[in-house]
Amino acid sequence: MSKRLFSGIQPSGNLHLGNYLGAIQNWVKLQDEYEAIFCVVDLHAITVPQDPVELRKKIIEVAKIYLAAGIDPKKSTMFVQSHISEHTQLAWILSTLTKITELERMTQFKDKSQKDGKEGIGAGLLTYPTLMAADILLYDTAVVPVGEDQVQHIELTRVLARRFNEKFGETFVIPESIVGKKSARIMGLDDPTKKMSKSAASEYNYIALTDDAETVRKKIKKAVTDSGSEIVYSDSKPALKNLLNIFALLYDKKLEAIAEEYAGKNYSDFKNGLAEVIINFLSPFQERLKNISDEEVLAVLRAGAEKVKPLAREKMHQVFDKIGLISY
Ligand code: TYM
Repeated sequence: MSKRLFSGIQPSGNLHLGNYLGAIQNWVKLQDEYEAIFCVVDLHAITVPQDPVELRKKIIEVAKIYLAAGIDPKKSTMFVQSHISEHTQLAWILSTLTKITELERMTQFKDKSQKDGKEGIGAGLLTYPTLMAADILLYDTAVVPVGEDQVQHIELTRVLARRFNEKFGETFVIPESIVGKKSARIMGLDDPTKKMSKSAASEYNYIALTDDAETVRKKIKKAVTDSGSEIVYSDSKPALKNLLNIFALLYDKKLEAIAEEYAGKNYSDFKNGLAEVIINFLSPFQERLKNISDEEVLAVLRAGAEKVKPLAREKMHQVFDKIGLISY
């Protein structure tokens, strides 16, 4: 049997090209190689305030995005995190093995708590990585394809799995992250020193997967560039490097070939080309997205939950047994 793969996205904010290139594009390729499970991690989304009406819409939209991007429910399993209560059960147990300092060290937590102060954020933001560890460890996951920002959480997952195994005996598989080379960190269009982010203050930071052609052209036109006018891939030109990466990943072409195509041309020619490449990807994607009904996606999610539930139950029986709780 092939190895298990698990990954997920939070149904919060607007999903963007960073989410697609950093995660979903790789998932679509990897689903042929692994026994893949893709989760809509709604319980992670509520670690920051969400409007209930919007949240429900977003959960369905994220699942539709998986399908429209090419996740095939005949090959892979898709479900919603909150439908499998074992996730929160295992998260609690793992939190009893996690040190507060380990959680406080997480970059994502540090960023959020620095921004809003510890009084301004919920405890869920601190314990968030134990829920993510539970997501992964429940299913004997071997690999977790993610963007670079999630690697630290997977490192902690590995630490917790080892700690549990050492204390109570072999129970969890130690997972590994899979991170794309060029897609690990897609940067903001308005600031190439920060990652493209769902929670960015300005919508000029990202291209949303639901942006129309006009919006894409406008945002790419406004994207910051570096000094000089030559189209070259270089660390000294971080803004251009990011745009070239996006171009290459969507166009499925080598960077050298793109640089050659634009040799002697200027930034504005390159940006026009890039906008069209993005639109050529987004238009058919959005067409597929539009044609997926709520009923269809809910049926896929229901079937997915039914498939993973016995796996989660079985793992929790093992965990109960090991730590001295009584299975029911
Ligand atoms: P989330 O929802 O923030 O992001 C979803 C995926 O998109 C990747 N990503 C990026 N990749 C490249 N460049 C970017 N600018 C960029 N922004 C986001 C993320 O790395 C991620 O792969 N905690 C996770 C969700 C989660 C999860 C899990 C993932 C919960 N449980 C178990 C894997 C396994 C998160 O907040 O991702």
